[in-house]
Parts: sequence; C-alpha cells; structure tokens
Amino acid sequence: MGRNQDLMSRRDAVTPKGAGRFHPLATAASARGAVITDVEGQELIDFAGGIGVVNVGHCDPEVVKAVQEQAAKLTHSCIHVATYEPYIALCEKLVSLFPHGAKTKALLVNTGAEAVENAVKIARQATGRQAVICFTEAFHGRTMMAMTLTSKVGYKVGCGPFAPEVYRLPFPNRSKYGRGLSETDFVERELARFRQALVNTVPAEHVAGVIIEPVQGEGGFTPAPFGYLRGLRALCDEFGIKLIIDEVQTGFGRTGKWAAYEHAGVTPDLSTWAKSMGGGMPISAVIGKAEVMDAAKPGTLGGTYGGNPVSCAAALAAIRSMERLNTNARAEVIGGLIRDRFLTLQKKHPSLIGEVRGLGAMIAMELVHGGDLDRPNTEAATKLMHACWERGLLIVTAGASANIIRTLTPLVITDEQLRRGLDILEESLGVVAGSGAPAARQAAIA
Ligand SMILES: Cc1ncc(COP(=O)(O)O)c(C=O)c1O
Repeated sequence: MGRNQDLMSRRDAVTPKGAGRFHPLATAASARGAVITDVEGQELIDFAGGIGVVNVGHCDPEVVKAVQEQAAKLTHSCIHVATYEPYIALCEKLVSLFPHGAKTKALLVNTGAEAVENAVKIARQATGRQAVICFTEAFHGRTMMAMTLTSKVGYKVGCGPFAPEVYRLPFPNRSKYGRGLSETDFVERELARFRQALVNTVPAEHVAGVIIEPVQGEGGFTPAPFGYLRGLRALCDEFGIKLIIDEVQTGFGRTGKWAAYEHAGVTPDLSTWAKSMGGGMPISAVIGKAEVMDAAKPGTLGGTYGGNPVSCAAALAAIRSMERLNTNARAEVIGGLIRDRFLTLQKKHPSLIGEVRGLGAMIAMELVHGGDLDRPNTEAATKLMHACWERGLLIVTAGASANIIRTLTPLVITDEQLRRGLDILEESLGVVAGSGAPAARQAAIA
C-alpha cells in the first residue's frame, strides 16, 4: 500500500465520513509557495490554496517567523481576560484597510462561520429586528445559523431544524436566472424582487440584515452584478437594514482588491473575513461601522480563542507580505491568464464547458452536458479533479452539483507553475473528454 493510501486508511478508521474530501488520495506533508509535497514525496501544483486560505502562499517566510516568535512569547491569555497587543494591532490594521464609514471597529474570532454568526448577532442587536435575508447558492459556513444561511442541500441534509427568521431570494445570477436579459434589466428586476419580498415575504421592519457574497464561492464563483450590490446598498439604507458582505472567500486580494465589494464601490455596514487573512492560521473577523458594532451588549460576542495571539501575529505578517508583494495586482494577472486559457478550452470543448466566469484570480469553468447550463456534468468534474491530481495538480470543485472547477491558486504562484498547472488541466480535460493519454498515477486511484 502506498503512503497516501496508508494515511487515508488511517483517516477512515478514526475520522467520520461527514468531514468530506475532494480527493480519495491527496495528502500533504509540506508546502511552500504554490506547491504541496505529499507524503509520497510527489509535488502538486496547488490550484486550491486550502480553499482560498493561502493567497500569500504556503509557509510564507514572514508568517512562519511571526508565528515562531509569537509562540515563544505568548500563545494565549484570552482577550476577555488579559488584553494583548497583537489583537489590537491587527484590529487597527483591519479598520485602516477596510473602513466602513467614519469610524470602524473589528471583532476577531476563529472561523468564517463564526464571523457570520457574530455578524448576524450584531445586526440583530443594532436593529432590534430578527429576520435575515440570504440567497440561493450561498455558502456561509456549517454552524447552525451559518448553515441555515447556506443554500446547498448537500451541506445541511438531516442537520435541522434550522434557525428561524431566515428568508432566501434567488442570487442575482444572470446566467441562471436572467437569460435573455441585459445586465441593467436583470439588476432592475432583481432589485424589484427584493423590494417586493419586503411586501410579500417579510416586512422590512422585521429585517435586521441581508447577507451576500460579492462573488459566490462554494456556489460556483458567480459575481453579483456591481449594480445589484449598489442597489442593495440603497435598499438597505431606505429600510434600515444592515448590509452584511461576506468576504470570507473573496477577501484579501483574491479578486484583485483587498475587498471584492470595492469593485462595486459599496461600503457594507458589516463584513465577514477569514481564510487568507491568517496566511494559513485560523482566524476570522467581523468588521463594521463603529455604531453598529457597539450596539452589541458586552458579553454577547467573543469566545475563548477568538483572535489568538499566534494567529494575530500570522495575520499581521500575511498582510505585510501581501502589501509588499502587491498580491492584488498579481491576482489580476493570474486571473487574466487563467480566464484566457479557460476560454480557449471552452472553444475546444464547447459541449463540456458551459461557462467561464469569475473576478480577479477567482475563476471557474462550469462543466455541463451538451453545452447546456441546466445539465450539470458532475461526473466530468470529479473525473477531471482526479485526472489532475494524477498528473500533479490539486484542484477542487464547487457548485450545488459539484460540477464547477474553480481556481484559488496562491497569489505567489510563478508564471511557470501557473502555465504548468494549466497545461495539466488542459491535458486532463482531454482525458475526460475522451481524447487524452492515461497518467502515471492512474493505477493508484482506480
Ligand atoms: C463565503 C464564505 N463564508 C463563510 C465560510 C465559512 O468559513 P469557515 O469554513 O472558516 O467556517 C466560507 C467557507 O468556505 C465561505 O466561502
């Protein structure tokens, strides 16, 4: 038995099936930049980035140094017990990077889901209202409120009852819900739908917040039209609803800006952050207008580990590195190269690739049958993922039908690594489409 298989057998013996996995045999022993080395010593070009966590690259030297130094000084005191400087320094940095109006405050927690939970609690306390509006194809995490807000049934089946006072509208996905409409007409119709929902679904005076991903992550890399985000901002202002923008997957340079909402020129009342903020260490944040954040009563926010000092030091170092390397600009270049290649592949395989879309370096291709977006090709996406792994590329799927191939490469990937990864993807696509040669590792996965 190979070492990958051996580790997976040990995993199967002691961990539950509920913690899913994309690849039957993908393992990681070490990683640098955009390359993971598995337990068999095989190098994998990383197009998954630990699901969007390592924009700054694996084991960024500054992050590693900061973690080591902080771990030797203070690993934990609990922010509720004894205040430590790295927590405050990180919040200072976050509010300067992401101003939410005249005065901004930040709360640190541990995961994206936890940030979402806290954003909802803050919006409720700030408005004295209970309802939350969310969208189809949304993903906001796996804790109970976050899971309620999440759309994909596969992530929540059998886990209910879910939280009450959550209302869902179609995500403004023009390819799916607005075919034949111009973007302007589509946006107008969807904003009218939102306004109508305040009449026929839930009264505005009950709605605390609306939560939206500026580009859906797990949902399949669909950007919300910028005009829709601007319209939503205006509707929230009109009805006293807090606009919560979930930047957990899009944030920290993934789309070519620190925040994806910057593309639309909107400022949320509250926003949620995690993943690439910590450069590989677990940490997340809720950022918001100071008066909204301060509406939460003492004791209603936080937790034992929220804003752990080692994770704070890692986040500060990750942000410093991203600033120094200008990963935002690099994301535009990477995204452009990926999009160009995906569009070329779509021309080659028009019945298999239904759509290429995304923003910045958050690019996806949707695999379908017969070029029809209503006929997801889950099997091809699974096969493609595995064929890529066999050839040394780690890539993951997204979407309610898991038929969307998405790219979340570390933004420090070199041109050569990116080209090699795209070549592997192209070759693997040929195999899936029935015209390629088998890979050396094929036998291992059968
Ligand atoms: C947009 C969005 N929100 C929230 C989450 C949940 O984050 P976590 O897995 O850290 O709880 C995710 C995770 O993929 C996400 O993409």
